[in-house]
Amino acid sequence: MLTRSMPVLLDCDPGIDDAFALAYLACRSDVETVGVVTTAGNVGQDDVLRNALGLTALLGADIPVARGADQPLVEPMMTAEETHGPHGLGHAQVGECGRRPDERTGAQLWVDLARTYPGELVGIVTGPLTNLALALREEPELPRLLKRLHVMGGAINYRGNTGPTSEWNIAVDPEAAHEIFEAWGQASRRLVLGALQATEVIRMDEGHRQAVAELGDHPVVAVLSDALRFYFEFHQADGLGWCAYLHDPLVVAHAVTGRFARTRPLAVDVELAGTLTRGQTVGDELGRWGKEPNVDLLCDVDAEGFIEHLISTLREGLTVRSGE
Ligand code: BDR
Ligand code: CA
Repeated sequence: MLTRSMPVLLDCDPGIDDAFALAYLACRSDVETVGVVTTAGNVGQDDVLRNALGLTALLGADIPVARGADQPLVEPMMTAEETHGPHGLGHAQVGECGRRPDERTGAQLWVDLARTYPGELVGIVTGPLTNLALALREEPELPRLLKRLHVMGGAINYRGNTGPTSEWNIAVDPEAAHEIFEAWGQASRRLVLGALQATEVIRMDEGHRQAVAELGDHPVVAVLSDALRFYFEFHQADGLGWCAYLHDPLVVAHAVTGRFARTRPLAVDVELAGTLTRGQTVGDELGRWGKEPNVDLLCDVDAEGFIEHLISTLREGLTVRSGE
């Protein structure tokens, strides 16, 4: 299928920073979000699905939203209400919006859209990799069908935010992440990975928080603003100060603009067996494994440039949309 703009599939677990990522994509006129898949992660599947349906409805984005897996491949499910609030959007809530989820599973939507837009679809995952791993089992050609795959996950030579060395999206489903890193090791295009040492450069401060609160009267602004306030409270309670790391939007913005970070190639895999380090992403900096790099790792992040871009994209997109 031919589209004039860039077709994007977002697989997410909204989630406060996922909500910003969804809104950002909806505000870009050069991007067509052709599907959203939800993964249980920050909160359970019922909540992430309701949030994705509610946010896309508020954003006027009439796109398929598919319910993904309820559970990781192997691990028992874990959720992070203390980080993202009781239903995933902090102090905000989106109620039932009347929109129905797509009839397909999340994995099937991945496969169908990759086949519909062969060589064109940009896949972005800002949650655990469960759905994509299930899709890959169904369609092993996925790494060649996608134009690119961008993932927020992992921590390379950097502390974790879940276990001491593990990052949330990978820690929730390490086996799924391992399958994806393996598969992209065989592909001609490397997976683009935004790990914590890059995404934690995006540290929103009080001035940024106020700028979000003053974005305008579009109904999504209140949701983002109330969600972000909770995220600040969580980061402060976690000892990080009055701030919030906005991980997912950086990865999404880099995926669709190529801006705000450089990349460097690296062979990356996930520790599955460690007793202390399960879920850690390990980068082979010295080439000890003798494997070709499977990842382009985000580095040299332009935090101020990105935050300004995020806020101005939201302001412009949401102003146009509230005036429609
Ligand atoms: C990642 O985990 C989630 O809490 C965020 O939404 C982000 O995708 C950061 O580790
Ligand atoms: Ca997320």
